[in-house]
Amino acid sequence: MKNKSTKVHRNDLCPCGSGLKYKKCCIRKAGLTPRNSNKALYLRKHGIRVKEAGDIEGIKKAGRLALKTLDMVEDSIRVGMRTDDINTLVHDYTLKNGATPAALGYRGFPKSVCVSVNEVICHGIPGDRVLKNGDIVNVDVTSILGGYYADVNKMFFVGDPDATTRKIVNVARECLRKGVMMVRPGNRIGDIGFAIQAFAEKEGCSVVREFVGHGVGFDFHEPPQVPHHGRCGEGIELIPGMVFTIEPMINLGAKDLRILDDGWTAVTLDGALSAQFEQTILVTDEGYESLTPFPLQ
Ligand code: MF3
Ligand code: CO
Ligand code: CO
Repeated sequence: MKNKSTKVHRNDLCPCGSGLKYKKCCIRKAGLTPRNSNKALYLRKHGIRVKEAGDIEGIKKAGRLALKTLDMVEDSIRVGMRTDDINTLVHDYTLKNGATPAALGYRGFPKSVCVSVNEVICHGIPGDRVLKNGDIVNVDVTSILGGYYADVNKMFFVGDPDATTRKIVNVARECLRKGVMMVRPGNRIGDIGFAIQAFAEKEGCSVVREFVGHGVGFDFHEPPQVPHHGRCGEGIELIPGMVFTIEPMINLGAKDLRILDDGWTAVTLDGALSAQFEQTILVTDEGYESLTPFPLQ
């Protein structure tokens, strides 16, 4: 028997019985694969811009540059260096590679990178502070390349820090790892914060609440917010194509902070050490992929 195709053509009457041509009717719904309809829903409901393959390639390129920038900084960090010297290194390297430092001029931020030493939790403004033996320093690089943003930060040791100092850095790194391990479709934003908080508090450390991870890629800070504390099963469900940072700030003492008169620098209220690691993470069909990968163990 001849195989009679059941395919509906654009100009046929729509099989739904509306009396309209198929092209004016259900052909639109047919284009709504589950992925596309989720994408529209997440934009409408949460303001989240889910990324396509080409976007992900773009963010990855920006991420590779941001990581190379951090490697370059690591090779240069020395006792006696000023935090502003790190800014010069990052600024020049970014421009030389055809990119723009996202921090510069962002809501009035005066420098090209955040450099946060010891009790500085985040958003340290590079300046005349001199790095001394035993310090820990966070360098937070956000590069814009080809219109795409990637956001990544790491801690570096200056000289030879003591055991307690090394501990807070190791706990912060493991907190990021624990958070990243929760990223897969079907899990929720709250699962990430829960995993981070549980580990940090088990180690006798605390989680900063005032700053959160965030959607990233088309812009510096996009929805959703990604808290580093929380409860399992709460918050938005993760779907493939979401790209956001996880960037837990972990304190050796209490979680409380204050902002210095410069309007940016966040420091621990008790003056104790704080550490942070950040990566830009893509939700994939199977789980996650870091778009700014570096080893977390
Ligand atoms: N890079 C920071 C983050 O991880 C944001 C810094 S905002 C700045 O989200 F203006 F201080 F650069
Ligand atoms: Co960030
Ligand atoms: Co950052």
